[in-house]
Amino acid sequence: MSPFCLGGNVFGWTADKEQSFAVLDAYVGAGGNFIDTSDSYMNYFTEQGNVPGQSETIIGEWLAARGNRDDVVVATKVGDHPDYLGLAPATIKAAADESLKRLGSDHIDLYYTHFDRDEAIPVDDIIGALDGLVTAGKVRAIAASNISPERLAASLEFSDREGLARYVALQPQYNLVSRDTYEGARRDIVQREGLACVPYFALASGFLTGKYRPGKTLENVRNMPGLAGGYADTERGVRVLAAVEQVAQARGIEMATVAMAWLAQQPTVVAPIASARTVDQLPALVAMDDVHLSDAELQLLDAASS
Ligand SMILES: NC(=O)c1ccc[n+]([C@@H]2O[C@H](COP(=O)([O-])OP(=O)(O)OC[C@H]3O[C@@H](n4cnc5c(N)ncnc54)[C@H](OP(=O)(O)O)[C@@H]3O)[C@@H](O)[C@H]2O)c1
Repeated sequence: MSPFCLGGNVFGWTADKEQSFAVLDAYVGAGGNFIDTSDSYMNYFTEQGNVPGQSETIIGEWLAARGNRDDVVVATKVGDHPDYLGLAPATIKAAADESLKRLGSDHIDLYYTHFDRDEAIPVDDIIGALDGLVTAGKVRAIAASNISPERLAASLEFSDREGLARYVALQPQYNLVSRDTYEGARRDIVQREGLACVPYFALASGFLTGKYRPGKTLENVRNMPGLAGGYADTERGVRVLAAVEQVAQARGIEMATVAMAWLAQQPTVVAPIASARTVDQLPALVAMDDVHLSDAELQLLDAASS
């Protein structure tokens, strides 16, 4: 799989179908083959006309139009679609079938549990349902996204004990301004158990590109607390941007490239996920593959972001 995973929450949200096709074409044209989506994208901002499942539909239409399903690794998620909320076994089973229909495919390559919100559902039941999908050939491999370290460890233990499908990856929020969401207990488990870390929000929703600055007003749907706009006026955010900019300027590369390269070089990280709304935004992300940060650069970024 390519080391930069293309995020799909833009498709049908900030990128219409035509723009999405162009981004997908440019991504595979640059050698990419790993696409991340969810059955819920875009279930936020529905008052703006967003439709949950639309990202999968657009990806499915693109795969059909290009005839390249076997060349692409498609990861999607279950648990956050408004009609299939949560991880009850019957929900997982039904939601997977809906995702397959939208993707126009007979299998999902990597299937994540999106949010593990209801701890009243035993991990045994969740793993049992996911294993059923693997056995049925509908899913190739399973993974978890937003989950507590305790439930992640318990899930792996159950899979091993029962000889069932096992999570092969974790998709945590992780980037230069959000480190404690992964480093610590979750990373320890991923390292110990040999999972792959596929971090989301690699650009902190665009903040790490450098376009959000203190006091600057930027008209952008991601300019809000919890997304990119939440970092610009924080002391840490300013410090991190200065360090990223210093490395970028010294190398003559984009800040986004530095942010992605830092992530790619962290222990356990296999493929950072970032989205591009336009084809123009892609080269800075793809360029991550050509950058290997030095120890001094890593130390500068670590110190600024700690
Ligand atoms: N598992 C989960 O719970 C979870 C949660 C969130 C996301 N995800 C996944 O992770 C992916 C990445 O997250 P994300 O897309 O929300 O955030 P992100 O990758 O951190 O930020 C991407 C956004 O930054 C902007 N951008 C990208 N390249 C740029 C460039 N070169 N110059 C300027 N701006 C640029 C674009 O938005 P604008 O142009 O609009 O500014 C783009 O949509 C998602 O697509 C999704 O697949 C998973």
